[in-house]
Amino acid sequence: MSKLSPTGEDQAVPGTVDRVDGVRRAHGARWSGGSGNRSRRSCRRVRERYAAAVSRAADSPLRFAAPSIGEDEVAAVVDTLRSGWLTTGPRTAEFERRFATAVGAEAALACSSGTAALHLGIIAAGVGPGDVVLTTPLTFCSTVHVIEHQGARPVLVDVDPESLNISPAGLAKAVAELGSPPAALLPVHLAGLPAAMPDILRIAEECGAAVIEDAAHALGASVGGRPVGDTSVGRGVPRAAAFSFYVTKSITTGEGGMLTGDHALVQKAREWSLHGMSRDAWNRYGAGGSWRYSVTQPGFKYNLSDIQSALGLVQLGRADEFLTRRQAIAQMYDTAFDELDEIRPVSRPSDAGHAWHLYMIRVLRDRSPVTRDELVASLAGQGIGTSVHFIPIHRLEYYRNRYGYAPEDFPVANAAFEELLSLPIYPAMTDEDVWDVVAAVQDAVAGPARG
Ligand SMILES: Cc1ncc(COP(=O)(O)O)c(C=O)c1O
Repeated sequence: MSKLSPTGEDQAVPGTVDRVDGVRRAHGARWSGGSGNRSRRSCRRVRERYAAAVSRAADSPLRFAAPSIGEDEVAAVVDTLRSGWLTTGPRTAEFERRFATAVGAEAALACSSGTAALHLGIIAAGVGPGDVVLTTPLTFCSTVHVIEHQGARPVLVDVDPESLNISPAGLAKAVAELGSPPAALLPVHLAGLPAAMPDILRIAEECGAAVIEDAAHALGASVGGRPVGDTSVGRGVPRAAAFSFYVTKSITTGEGGMLTGDHALVQKAREWSLHGMSRDAWNRYGAGGSWRYSVTQPGFKYNLSDIQSALGLVQLGRADEFLTRRQAIAQMYDTAFDELDEIRPVSRPSDAGHAWHLYMIRVLRDRSPVTRDELVASLAGQGIGTSVHFIPIHRLEYYRNRYGYAPEDFPVANAAFEELLSLPIYPAMTDEDVWDVVAAVQDAVAGPARG
């Protein structure tokens, strides 16, 4: 049984060709094959392909990210529309059940976004006004916004220079320096590379803090052989993980997210997810449902619709297929960039179960003749989309003003940010697309005639 396939209920992989931007792309065109040797051979031919690569801008730009939506996804959504039940209902319940099984979690709650899942996670873990939550500066703003939403205080801890995930040593030091224990630790599995969870859990257990993982990038990632989302280790403290199904993520529901944790935590989050109404309120218009409900807290409207869950169920059935393709693309990039001194992929431990949501490189300031921003412009000029993950929290206007941060307050995140670049990595990319990116990077940092 593959890691992410819900037990005994694998969805068939659609035989359709994925559409990217309405253009049919044949998979595995001229450069397909995938074995290590062939990749290496292809890599040696990168320079020959330079001229072809630069001409792609005009006819077929390569997007930074694109979902893989096949006919099965379309049929599942259409079936749901025809079923007459559009909002949270049986398909959402099924999506939650299968997702929990896929990541080995006790329970799961489908949410309207990853942000909503994260917010519900910290609420259910008991974070409230005046509490301190420790997290990383190198993340998306919503990781920290949800702490602010709770009236709690985010305390940023700089990242490890290699993994760029929150530094366990920095975390231990920050905990020691706080007057009283933090309410929660909020590590982020940046790019899909798991944070140092054994160390983080040990620190949490020592100080009694809850652990809420921002797993927005991490469906398919694993720690010590256990999928991210399995929160059963570290029972001494409340634990939850929040995933995102935003359109660029490993699987998508358009917008959406999932919270995993134990039954009690997920049940608490469930009540907050639907106005604070009693548990079966979603079914109050269904056969056998009752119009009566009670409201126990001023909750949110964070539920996921059955239309989105229908899409999520098909995508979840394809998660292994997607992960395998992301791994293959990462391997191709690794092999090609091994030859370049000017850039370096963000390093990861060899035993990390990486989800490869992002492929991040560092454009080394002391070696590369071009800056990160010049490389972005050069790739854009060749029709290749890229992105940067992330502008660190302490450099965002709101947080700068609120907490008086200076760029050098978090020197590791700050230095990394100046060099970071995320390259396209998604299942719909052909091998030819990958080699085009490699050729364009190589041209920009080393020149086409080099070597
Ligand atoms: C690290 C991180 N956390 C949280 C989120 C929020 O997810 P969503 O967009 O589904 O709300 C994102 C989204 O991109 C993210 O990158």
